[in-house]
Amino acid sequence: MNKLTDCITNKNSSYLPVWFMRQAGRYLPEFKEIRKQNPDFIKLCLNERLSAEISLQPIRRFDLDAVIIFSDILMIPYGLGQKVEFKKGIGPILGDLNFNVVLNAKPNDFIEKLSPIYQAIKRVKKDIKNKNLIGFVGAPWTLLVYMLNKESPKNNFDINKIIKNKNLIRNLILKLEDIIFLHAKEQVKAGADIIQIFDSWAGLLPKEKLSEYCYIPTSKIVKNIKSLQVPIICFPKGIGENYIDFCSIVKPSCISIDYEVDPRWIKKKLDGIPVQGGLDPKILLTADKEKIKKSTEHYLNIFSDYPYIFNLGHGVLPETKPETIQYIIDIIRNKKS
Ligand code: CP3
Repeated sequence: MNKLTDCITNKNSSYLPVWFMRQAGRYLPEFKEIRKQNPDFIKLCLNERLSAEISLQPIRRFDLDAVIIFSDILMIPYGLGQKVEFKKGIGPILGDLNFNVVLNAKPNDFIEKLSPIYQAIKRVKKDIKNKNLIGFVGAPWTLLVYMLNKESPKNNFDINKIIKNKNLIRNLILKLEDIIFLHAKEQVKAGADIIQIFDSWAGLLPKEKLSEYCYIPTSKIVKNIKSLQVPIICFPKGIGENYIDFCSIVKPSCISIDYEVDPRWIKKKLDGIPVQGGLDPKILLTADKEKIKKSTEHYLNIFSDYPYIFNLGHGVLPETKPETIQYIIDIIRNKKS
């Protein structure tokens, strides 16, 4: 059995699996080379040969236990008919949201539009042995934020503007629940053996809105994906102490923690549910190797007798040196094997 599946499904803590969120991407010179020749990011995600190649780049360099398919959470709005562009130095910029187009998008058209992603998964699957292949989706809330805010909420965001039209938003969330599940199902059919749900902006929700916009929509998707017999990892970034409510309501197969969560606290509070991640990606930017080692071992020590998948508390930052990833993997492999 592949290592992440064994850790999640059998709660096996004798081996420490490792992979990195955003392991395929911006910090790797070989990715930057391909990217330079492919200025249209959406087109790159829909190039089955190149997205398979980019997905495999990290395992050519590093001893990792999983491949994550190279794609983006914003392929869903794109597949639903909203314009999505990635501007250098700015990030994603989306076109105006046409509710009619999106709410009436047909599942078959969506699958056809995104079929190169599924083809890329099939290609990668053929090339890997004894490694998990992770497919992924954005959670309804995070997709809603991008679709309505039309840019990253980092600089400019007003929650009341987003949820102003209650009825439309309710219908949009229902549509997203269906289409997110469909996208996950197609990835599983193509060969993905784990699905991760990224809710990168869950932390924007005040406590009293978490249930309606995060827990309930996500738990429906989790329940559906579980029926496909694949484990599901949830990453509701930034919700702090609410991680516990999230786990008891949504019941993911594994919970990915961000760098603000105290690992000792969550281990105590969780009822044995496997944990992933936590280490602050900013720590990887320091030249102080001892600090990196200490911070990595902090997580390894706390979770030494617990089903734990090593990962970061968010994606690898573009400024990270590939050697730092290697250094962390060496620490992990020397600890347990
Ligand atoms: O993890 C992997 O290696 C697989 C590929 C992957 C990408 N995006 C490729 C990508 C994954 C899993 C994602 C998820 C994603 N995309 C999230 C959730 C995780 C997170 O970081 O919170 C979000 C919020 C997005 C939306 C998105 N895509 C943004 C905000 C940006 C621009 C800034 C950035 O993070 O790079 C992207 C672009 C993007 N997605 C790049 C890559 C490799 C960079 C493209 C470039 O070269 O400019």
